[in-house]
Amino acid sequence: MKLHHGPSLPSRRAASIASVTSGACLAFMCLAVQAADTSPPQQLERWSAQAGTPGQAERGRVFFTSRHGGEWSCSSCHGAPPIAPGKHASTGKAIDPMAPAANPKVFTDTARIDKWFRRNCNDVVKRECSASEKADVLAYLISVKP
Ligand code: HEC
Repeated sequence: MKLHHGPSLPSRRAASIASVTSGACLAFMCLAVQAADTSPPQQLERWSAQAGTPGQAERGRVFFTSRHGGEWSCSSCHGAPPIAPGKHASTGKAIDPMAPAANPKVFTDTARIDKWFRRNCNDVVKRECSASEKADVLAYLISVKP
């Protein structure tokens, strides 16, 4: 996606616009790419900071692929390894892959991430996931390569 006018703007004018409005341009670009307000590494950092300990991929793999007293694990819908599209365990609806290596859009929208974590953890663990569990899950998903 190209948001700038590039060479068509006289370079001196472009430079002065950039220096005056760089803050506003950044905000504008954030809006222009819409939902993308975060990234997988930023989310990993956020939860690791909240948990006070870095996410661990192997612990995340075990958490993601295990059932927690209920009928479903995370992989019941998201697959294992979650590199291919998942399939909803009850509706059969396709779900985009959860590994950032296979899906550039995943973990880029804070509101969306929080919403689905809340809903899915309630379905699988019968409570919200802790910051440390989220950090582990994300460390695992980031480690999954095609
Ligand atoms: C019953 C099916 C189901 C289960 C089980 C499930 N999920 Fe999901 N999950 C979904 C669906 C559906 C979406 C939305 C996908 C879409 O819109 O393409 C989703 C999306 C997400 C997202 C949003 C990712 C993004 O950035 O778009 C996260 C995070 C997530 N799930 C985590 C989990 C975790 C962690 C578990 C296990 C505790 C889990 N899910 C178990 C169905 C499920």
